[in-house]
Amino acid sequence: MNTLLQDAQDSGARVGLTANAITINGGIPLRGRIQVKGAKNLVTKAMVAALLGDSPSELRSVPDISDVQVVRSLLEVHGVKVDNIDAETLRLDPVNIESAHFAEIDAHAGSSRIPILFCGPLLHRLGEAFIPDLGGCRIGDRPIDYHLEVLRKFGAIVDKQAGGIAMTAPAGLRGAKIELPYPSVGATEQVLLTATMAEGITELKGAAIEPEIMDLVNILQKMGAIITVDTDRVIRIEGVESLHGYSHTALFDRNEAASWAAAALATGGDIFVGGAHQPEMLTFLNVYRKIGGAFDIADDGIRFYHPGGKLKPVVIETDVHPGFMTDWQQPLVVALAKADGVSIVHETVYENRFGFTEALNEMGANIQIHKECLGGHPCRFGQRNFYHSAVISGPTELHGADIVVPDLRGGFSHLIAALSAQGTSRVSNVGIISRGYENFIGKLQQLGADFVLEG
Ligand code: EPU
Repeated sequence: MNTLLQDAQDSGARVGLTANAITINGGIPLRGRIQVKGAKNLVTKAMVAALLGDSPSELRSVPDISDVQVVRSLLEVHGVKVDNIDAETLRLDPVNIESAHFAEIDAHAGSSRIPILFCGPLLHRLGEAFIPDLGGCRIGDRPIDYHLEVLRKFGAIVDKQAGGIAMTAPAGLRGAKIELPYPSVGATEQVLLTATMAEGITELKGAAIEPEIMDLVNILQKMGAIITVDTDRVIRIEGVESLHGYSHTALFDRNEAASWAAAALATGGDIFVGGAHQPEMLTFLNVYRKIGGAFDIADDGIRFYHPGGKLKPVVIETDVHPGFMTDWQQPLVVALAKADGVSIVHETVYENRFGFTEALNEMGANIQIHKECLGGHPCRFGQRNFYHSAVISGPTELHGADIVVPDLRGGFSHLIAALSAQGTSRVSNVGIISRGYENFIGKLQQLGADFVLEG
């Protein structure tokens, strides 16, 4: 591992990254106030966007999570000077950008999916790019075929090699007409980050329009880009010759906010999530209310609480924005296990996002997963071998168990299960949770959870 990455991960220790396991005495309602910062799924992309500028950028509300550390380290090995102006503000200076050595890039292999988004900016700035084998949560195959196809359309020559992918653009990058087979968040960002400085006009059909993508559009516009978002998932980008640095406060992390909201509901608690905004959470709030959760919306955040009484079952289908986000289902399933009746969750974004339910069943939940598309429209995973629909029969009382965190959101779901269960649970592999939840250990303490950390 290179020293920058080691330093980055060591500095993550202050957010609890070194903790391997946590023993939780459950059954205590979580109560109190916490604050969420910028969204993991925007901040990391905003950091990559800074590569496109010919002057430094300033990004505010940056959470101290390991995905940010990984991107920071990868920027640094490419000569970008990244400084903390304060604990949550980064200054990113790309003026002395340079190619990195294979070993420095390789040290990041398997650590995140963000490196694929370095391709367009590096091709513009250096004429070449090499990205390591990718990581990220194991919640399906997570191919990068859309990304590579998009880059080829812009004129990149893609060469898959041992340990990563090398790219060049001998004739420069040119605007293209692109239609995505599925509104992929990452592939849409790939187009945005590549098209802004490509020669000519790019038309993207079938774009993802998540709020994090719209905030990336805001950032690129601040940098000098010309981007039009039309109706029906069409985005048009007029390439410009140069971009400058930006100054931006990142959109709040609605996935983290929804996770704490789910924790309040499952534990019978009451949590004020500072920094949460209503518009980006509309769909979540509707479902929360239907289950029997309550919320009060304030200017500076949202209070989520269990108002008493029985929780009600729901039928949910995850979808791209403005649908119910896939990242929300895992934490919420714990509350559904406690609801009075049968709930159905049809996962249509990832083919394999129910692995986490095995541990919930060990704790007393009754969740069956099926290959059929249940509860709504047929999706692209129907008639295939993917267990992508869950039937949750409640109410069930959860009891403590020894469980192992499988992925980021599944891990938070396991934490909620342990916090709401009767008895003691040992949750191991909790380091993964620090990829996307800033200081979750400190927040658990603030909310009155009863737990002990193991090194
Ligand atoms: N897909 C392909 N080929 C591609 C790209 C995507 O088949 O080249 C498929 C995926 O396999 C998946 C679907 O398209 O079935 C959607 O994937 P998408 O590209 O939209 O996801 P992503 O960009 O890899 C981001 C977030 C995820 C979030 C999804 C959906 C980041 C770093 N990750 O992933 O967040 O679930 O969008 O909103 O932004 C998380 O935060 O826990 C997380 C997994």
